[in-house]
Amino acid sequence: MASIPQPAPVRGAIDWFVHDRFGMFIHWGTYALAARHEWVKNREAIPDEVYRQYFERFDPDLYEPREWARMAREAGMKYFVITTKHHEGFCLWDSAHTDYKATNTPYGRDLIQPMVEAFRAEGLKVGFYYSLIDWHHPHFPIDRIHPMYKRMTPDQVREANTARDVAIYREYLHNQVRELLTRFGDVSYLFFDFSYPDADAHGIPGKGCQDWGSEELVAMIRSLQPDVLINDRLNLPLDQPDVHTPEQFQPRTWVEKGGRPVFWETCQTFSGSWGYHRDEATWKSPGQLIEMLVNTVSRGGNLLMNVGPTARGTFDPRAQAALRVYGDWLRLHGRAVYGCTQSEFPEPEGCRLTQNGDRLYLHFFHWPFRHLHVDGLAGRVRYAQLLHDASEIRFKEHQQAPHSALEEKLGGNVLTLELPVVKPDVVVPVIELFLK
Ligand code: GLC
Repeated sequence: MASIPQPAPVRGAIDWFVHDRFGMFIHWGTYALAARHEWVKNREAIPDEVYRQYFERFDPDLYEPREWARMAREAGMKYFVITTKHHEGFCLWDSAHTDYKATNTPYGRDLIQPMVEAFRAEGLKVGFYYSLIDWHHPHFPIDRIHPMYKRMTPDQVREANTARDVAIYREYLHNQVRELLTRFGDVSYLFFDFSYPDADAHGIPGKGCQDWGSEELVAMIRSLQPDVLINDRLNLPLDQPDVHTPEQFQPRTWVEKGGRPVFWETCQTFSGSWGYHRDEATWKSPGQLIEMLVNTVSRGGNLLMNVGPTARGTFDPRAQAALRVYGDWLRLHGRAVYGCTQSEFPEPEGCRLTQNGDRLYLHFFHWPFRHLHVDGLAGRVRYAQLLHDASEIRFKEHQQAPHSALEEKLGGNVLTLELPVVKPDVVVPVIELFLK
């Protein structure tokens, strides 16, 4: 038996976050019209005057945030994080500091206020993603990930940057974050994206905490909303972020930084893009979706699952189907996720464990034939049931596993669960163990 990792305390209010475990990421911007990845401006090195066509045609006439919020709640999500501004620089709210915003598109209205209201009404907490990177602002110095970089020689980049003053951009960034924290009520989570302080091969610098003014920014945030959680992409020292955000991979153990466990959340996509991507076809299967959530919680983390709405303002049918996979499974298995964390017990093969006090949850990524032998649990279990239908699972306790081939391997203290031959008709079956 191992002890459950305990991250050091953080400044923001972390309890709701650790309890809730599952949120919705939303990547929405004018890149939804291009419909070929939110980095399209960079990937195709699209100049401002060409990229502007998306702004000029941005008109999500079917946008109904109450529908989005309902789908998120029904999927079992407890908070949401919206890209108020992505790298393209387009602002979804009516910022006083730019013209490049939703209110100046054909749609003509602020998108954030009704979204915040709708999600709050469904009981979800509000999180704002804000891109530190800005490919529209004239004072954002060109660097290796800027769309114009590919069209210039290093000398041309240096020359162009003499007319760009990062201090002006920094002030803009701070002013916008102040707006986000003063106009929309309680914000529970701020997700900044992202820092890349190293220079490129030609000595053209990337960007990090000096450019963003990260320390002053965090001080301002804490003074405006002391409880808000801040993620780890501001390029600050390790004890500063509340939440660490590994992206697009599944950690095999509890995430550690500097040798210590941290609070963490992994963000993931349904297919291979964050922004709406019409032709991207690598949509994850129901098994992969549920296993991702379970695996994350079994290592003490949160899952932030992304939807990229279309330029009409709808969730693609493929995204809706994926959300239903979560909703159907969580309706029956929610208590193996919310309030749960990594277990103190070792994982049986082919399973993940989550635990909430004296309830231990065995999640089956593979359904064995007739029996599961769990080492180290004999004498610890009062009662066992399949979670989805509360049907009893009978068990035996052994000093040694009952089948000779296993005897040597397992040693003493074995709990043998008697399983139905047919795998229960749920994506990932869960057995709930009531511990003594
Ligand atoms: C990356 C990408 C970005 C996405 C983000 C989500 O940093 O730049 O497009 O918004 O990951 O975490």
